[in-house]
Amino acid sequence: MTDIKPVDALSEADAVEELAFLASELARHDALYHGKDDPEISDADYDALKRRNGEIEALFPDLVRPDSPSGKVGSAPSGLFQQVTHTRPMLSLDNVFSDEDVSDFIASVYRFLGRLPDGSIAFTAEPKIDGLSMSLRYEKRKLVTAATRGDGTTGENVTANIRTIAEIPQTLPDGAPDVVEVRGEVYMAKSDFLALNAQMEEEGRQTYVNPRNTAAGSLRQLDPTITATRKLRFFAYSWGQMSEMPSDTQSGMVGALKGWGFPVNPLTQRLTSVAAILDHYRQIGLTRPELDYDIDGVVYKVDDLVLQGRLGFRSRSPRWATAHKFPAEQAFTILTAIDIQVGRTGALTPVARLVPVTVGGVVVTNATLHNEDYIKGIGNAGQPLREGRDIRIGDTVIVQRAGDVIPQIVDIVEEKREADSAPYVFPKTCPVCGSHAVREVNEKTGKVDSVTRCTGGFVCRAQAVEHLKHFVSRNAFDIEGFGAKQIDFFFASEDQTLSIRTAPDIFTLEERQQGSLSKLENIDGFGKVSVRKLYEAINERRQVALPRFIYALGIRHVGETTAKLLARSYGSYGEFDNAMRAAGEPGAEAWDDLNRIDGIGDVVARAIVEFYKEDRNVAVVDRLLEQVTPLDVEAPSGEGSPVAGKTVVFTGSLEKFTRDEAKARAESLGAKVAGSVSKKTDILVAGPGAGSKLDKARELGVQTMDEDEWLALIGG
Ligand code: IVH
Repeated sequence: MTDIKPVDALSEADAVEELAFLASELARHDALYHGKDDPEISDADYDALKRRNGEIEALFPDLVRPDSPSGKVGSAPSGLFQQVTHTRPMLSLDNVFSDEDVSDFIASVYRFLGRLPDGSIAFTAEPKIDGLSMSLRYEKRKLVTAATRGDGTTGENVTANIRTIAEIPQTLPDGAPDVVEVRGEVYMAKSDFLALNAQMEEEGRQTYVNPRNTAAGSLRQLDPTITATRKLRFFAYSWGQMSEMPSDTQSGMVGALKGWGFPVNPLTQRLTSVAAILDHYRQIGLTRPELDYDIDGVVYKVDDLVLQGRLGFRSRSPRWATAHKFPAEQAFTILTAIDIQVGRTGALTPVARLVPVTVGGVVVTNATLHNEDYIKGIGNAGQPLREGRDIRIGDTVIVQRAGDVIPQIVDIVEEKREADSAPYVFPKTCPVCGSHAVREVNEKTGKVDSVTRCTGGFVCRAQAVEHLKHFVSRNAFDIEGFGAKQIDFFFASEDQTLSIRTAPDIFTLEERQQGSLSKLENIDGFGKVSVRKLYEAINERRQVALPRFIYALGIRHVGETTAKLLARSYGSYGEFDNAMRAAGEPGAEAWDDLNRIDGIGDVVARAIVEFYKEDRNVAVVDRLLEQVTPLDVEAPSGEGSPVAGKTVVFTGSLEKFTRDEAKARAESLGAKVAGSVSKKTDILVAGPGAGSKLDKARELGVQTMDEDEWLALIGG
C-alpha cells in the first residue's frame, strides 16, 4: 500500500475515494467476522480502519456516505475517544421563543417557590453561544480531564485536544478549590472560520459549513497538532462538581471563574423585571451581527443558588433556567437572476441575485449557489439535495444565513413555481472571455469535479485580474495601497505607461511613468503623495521572502502552507525553479524528489509541474525575476546539530512522539523530512511495524535507527 496521508492533508477527491474504499473494506471484514467467523485482520487493524473512516468523516461531514461504516450519519463516530462519565450530568435547556413565553417562565419560577411575582428574584441573562459544551475537570489546580457533553451522562475524553486551546488555563491559581469542574462552550470565532475557509479554498480543498461544525470537527481530531492549528476559543458559564463553592450566586460563580483565568461573556447582566430582561434580549439581538462568534439566543438563569437548588430539574433540563432563542435566520424571497463569477483559478461560481430581504436583521441581496450540481439538487457526494429539487430563476426561495456568515439558498417553494419556468442551464463557456468552461475529471477517482472552470487561463480577463489581486494580497506581496480598485483601474488602462496586465508590470510602472503624458498623479483618486507612497510600497517589495514569492505565483493548490513547505525544501528560488522545470520531463528524478516531500501530494505536485510547463507562465515568472529577488530561506540554524542539512524519513508507528511532532522537531534542527526513502535519504527513523521503507533503506545502505537512537542523536 502507498503512504497513508494524514487525514488533514486529504483533498476532497482523496476523501471521496478513501471513504468509498473504507466502506467496502469494512463491510467485507464485517462479513468475514460475523458471517463466516473467519476474520482476515486483527481487531486492532479493524479498529484502525474504522477510526480512520471516522476521522475523515469528521473532517468532511458532507461526504459521509449513506452506507457509512460509522453508522451514524453526520454525527461523531463513537469509539473514537475514551468515554468519560460526568460526575454530574450535563443538562440541556428548555427553549422559549416569544415574549409571552418569557413572562410565563418567570411567573413559573415565582409560582414554584410559592412567592408573589414581586420582582424580588434576580436572573442572569447572557448570550447562548453556538458551540460545543465542554466539561473541564481540575484536580489540585491542574487540568486533568476535558470531556464533551455526549448524551449528558457520558461524553468523550478530548483532553489532549483541549490542551491546545490557549484560552483554557492548564492550571488554576492558588486559592482555587482542590476539585473544580468548569463548564462552558468551545467555539470558533467567525473571523477565524472565514480565514480557515479562505485557506481551504486557496488550497483547492473542501470548505467548512459553519464555525460550529468546524469547531466540532477540530475537537474530534485524533491528532492534537491538528486541533492546535484551528484557533478554538472558550466561554465559561457553569460548573459541575466543586469541592468548595466560592459564591452563592450564579453571577458570583461566573465572577470566580473569571478570576481563575477563564474567559466569560461580557454581555451578561443581572436583571429582575421581565421588561429589563426582554430589553436585554433585544440589545443582544442587535449586537449579534457584530459579535465575532455565533449565538442563537439568550439564556436566563435564577441568580440565587439556594433558589436554583429548590427549583431543581425536570428530566433533562433545569427549572431555574431557559433559553430564549432568536427567530430562525431564514426568509423567503425571489431569485431574480443567476450571475456567474470567475475566480483566479477560473472557477465559475454561480451567485443568486435576490429581491432584497431581511434575514436575522441583515439585508441580503446575494447568496451563493456553490456550483452546477448544487443548483440541480445534487450534493458533493452525488446524494440528492432538497429531495432533488433544482433551483430556477423566478423561484421563491428560502434564504438562510448559515452560521451568521454566508447567505445560502437552502430550498425553493415548489408550489410557487411558474408553470413556464425552465431549469437553469449552466454556461458551457466563460461569461468573461468566452473560452470553454469544463468540469474536469479527477484522474484518481474518475469522478467529475463539481467545479466548472474556464479554460482561458491568461486570455481570461477575470482570471488575470483576480490573479493580480492575489499577487498583491496581504499574504503574498502585500503591496500597500494596491487594492482591488487600483488593480481594476490599471488593468483597464489602454495607456502603455499605465497599464498593468501581469505582475511584472507592477514593478515597471514607475519607470514607464517617467516622461509619460498621462501622469498617474493627475488621475482622479491618486495625487502626488499617494503616488509616491505607492512607488515606495512597490519598491519595498523588490526583495521578498521565498514562501511569499511562491505563494504569489498563484499556482493551483499551492496555498501558504504548501508554499512554505516548498521554500523550505528547495531553499532558493533558483533551486525550486530548476527542479520544477525538470520535473516535467518523463522519468525525471526531480519529479520523484518533489513527490517525496512530506506534505506534497500527487495533486499538488502535478499542479506545480503543469504550471511550469506552460510557456506563458514561465515568461511571466522570468520577467518578474528581472524585477524582484526572492530571498533564500535560511535553514533553521540547527547549528552544531548532527542532523542539520540531512534528509530524514520517519516510518512505522512512532510511539515516543507523533509524526507531526517528529517532523517539526527535525525541521527546527535544520533537517529535511521526506515521505519516502531514496538514495538521497540520510537517516531512516523506524518505529515498530516498519516495513518496506526499512527494507529499502537497508538495501540502499541508508543509516537506520529506532526512536530512542534518534532522540539520543538530537539530544532528547
Ligand atoms: S447553561 C444546566 N449557558 O446550550 C444548564 N448553556 O441548549 C447548563 N449553551 O448544552 C447550560 N451558551 O452547550 C448555558 N450561556 C450558556 C450557554 C449554554 C450555550 C449551550 C450548552 C447547553 C446548550 C443547551
